[in-house]
Amino acid sequence: MAGAVSREGEGPTGRLFVLSSPEELAKAAAGRLWGIARERAMALDRSGKRGKGICVALSGGETPRRTLAVLSSEPYRSRFPWDLVHFYQVDERWVSPDDPSSNQRMQREALVSRAPVPPGHFHPVDTSLSDPREGARRYEETLRRAFREGTGGFPRFDAILLGLGADGHTASLFPGSPALREEAAWVAPAEGGTPPVPRVTLTLPVLNAASHVIFLVSGTGKARVLEEVLSGRGAALPASRVSPRRGKITFLADAGAARRMHAKPPPGPGTGGEPEGKGGAG
Ligand code: 6PG
Repeated sequence: MAGAVSREGEGPTGRLFVLSSPEELAKAAAGRLWGIARERAMALDRSGKRGKGICVALSGGETPRRTLAVLSSEPYRSRFPWDLVHFYQVDERWVSPDDPSSNQRMQREALVSRAPVPPGHFHPVDTSLSDPREGARRYEETLRRAFREGTGGFPRFDAILLGLGADGHTASLFPGSPALREEAAWVAPAEGGTPPVPRVTLTLPVLNAASHVIFLVSGTGKARVLEEVLSGRGAALPASRVSPRRGKITFLADAGAARRMHAKPPPGPGTGGEPEGKGGAG
């Protein structure tokens, strides 16, 4: 994994890697996404199922944006299997695609317009429809066309990039949101953020069906919520309910976000391990 891992640890909900800065975090996240896509591409080649493709779901927010900008730059730009990967949205605000708050706008600017993403390989939520309920319904149709139902009737994304809000939200699943109770639909209307705006989001069962979930957490403002999620003390938080049954979950955090964690420095010299750190993360 690119990016100088300074500390790592294991929490009850996943593996934590701590990077020295937001820039190193973005490099590590791009590296992890490349590693997942490359392994999946090799597996598809071995099984003769290259046509199945690789499905990745992207979140909005500044931390995911930085990762997409690194992924669409060298060295990943010329190495990533773009021809195999289809990009979907984890969630979207119910605004026009050219609105500054649009996740689609950010993802087009940071990735789709900069990297050789083939036409038809970026699948955004259609926010021109009548309302978020219709938007969620139609996006679920898009996903059903793309996926044979995987884990227990839910699409199995090869990788899902998630951000973490200071309030413990992830995707557009905010504390107290009715969307958190959705157990059958793949996509749901939601509301939240500051100020609360109508949204569309993948539901918890879809997040929990993924092969790989990567949480990207940056900044001291996330230190408390990251510690709550990884320690298990924040079990009721939406982000804590992301726990893929047959998948891997990784938390990539920068030093600011991880400052309340006590992960062991990784063994060996030259890993940039920080002086403190006793016991595992969590
Ligand atoms: C959204 C995002 C949201 C985001 C987190 C973290 O549409 O708002 O999907 O879940 O990822 O709020 O955002 P930052 O990385 O900007 O803090």
